[in-house]
Amino acid sequence: EAAPSFTLNPAAIVATEMKMLTKNIQDLLSSGHPSLDKVAKYYIRSEGKHLRPLVVLLMARATYNCPKAEEAERRRDSISATINVPITSPNILQDHNPSYPDVDGSVRPIVDSQALASDVATQISPSQKRLAEITEMIHAASLLHDDVIDNAEARRGSPSGNLAFGNKMAILAGDFLLGRASVALARLRDAEVVELLATVIANLVEGEFMQLHNGTETISEKYSPAAFEYYIQKTYLKTASLISKSCRAAALLGGSTKEVADAAYLYGKNLGLSFQLVDDLLDYTITSGELGKPAQADLKLGLATAPVLFAWEQYEELGPMINRKFSEEGDVEKAWAMVQSSNGLERTRELAESFSRKAIEAISIFPDSEAREGLEQIAKKGLTRKK
Ligand code: FPP
Ligand code: MG
Ligand code: MG
Repeated sequence: EAAPSFTLNPAAIVATEMKMLTKNIQDLLSSGHPSLDKVAKYYIRSEGKHLRPLVVLLMARATYNCPKAEEAERRRDSISATINVPITSPNILQDHNPSYPDVDGSVRPIVDSQALASDVATQISPSQKRLAEITEMIHAASLLHDDVIDNAEARRGSPSGNLAFGNKMAILAGDFLLGRASVALARLRDAEVVELLATVIANLVEGEFMQLHNGTETISEKYSPAAFEYYIQKTYLKTASLISKSCRAAALLGGSTKEVADAAYLYGKNLGLSFQLVDDLLDYTITSGELGKPAQADLKLGLATAPVLFAWEQYEELGPMINRKFSEEGDVEKAWAMVQSSNGLERTRELAESFSRKAIEAISIFPDSEAREGLEQIAKKGLTRKK
């Protein structure tokens, strides 16, 4: 089968905005403390894939010409935004405004009604750009924490944050990112959008907890679909919640109707699920050198992802191994071999493909645009990626 050729580069459509992303996030993260500054910005580097902000920006454009909600239905609770007020950590020993403690004394919140209007040329509003930044900040925070939990040594081909700075600083830097992301979010002055992204943070933790427990409650010795349902639920919370709710938020900030916001959400949900299934597949098919992070990691971490859960339908012996998180001598190797000779990898790929199709289907109600095509292409490209 020939590799699909892509004529359109999705990132090029929002290149101007993407170019500013890293710098803008770094500005949101400025801290008076030099080492906090360094650790917090460690996962905010221009080499990152920045998939989530890319999708958010494309979604902003793709929904630009979609139906808009009536003024009265709009969730926005204020037309004034404080989006451009700098976030600083004031020096308490010097003058600062006690009624607005995190804003430098001299800076009053600016009522910026321009902040919510979309630029005619780029079709993206400042608040949607800020949302893209917030999404990446929450993602980076979750990676800092995740690498501590997973005891990771590398990320994107470099030492992981925990390895470079130690667990304590990595955790604190992740918390700082969440704090600053929350301030930036509040400044969008849209209560529904705040609620969406706050829910994402809770969902990330819920997903990680589900993964810690690995569905042992749903795993008996015999194969049961409940184990797979648990895995999909966990995958939504851990991976798809952020991108789906960010997509919905992008549509809402653009004043979209509920129908449009629902479609944006469904795109993000199915893209996220497809993406994580491919991730779980790559853990079985790609070597660590190519991946830029350790491969075969999931079994070693005791994780039962889609390939091994599908393989379990063919090989009953996997049940007890999944149950004990592959902790006995030889479990990892035996489970690995069974997955390789099962149809688990193929079925994982098929499931990823079906989620990808659903993502594309969801946004078919949007008018034709380059941005919509870009979103479609991201959903297709995810399936053939190697890392
Ligand atoms: C990567 O998964 C991890 C996540 C996408 C989410 C991790 C969530 C937490 C640690 C919860 C608490 C954190 C915050 C900020 C709320 P992975 O380990 O499968 O992927 P990897 O191979 O990239 O490490
Ligand atoms: Mg990890
Ligand atoms: Mg993890």
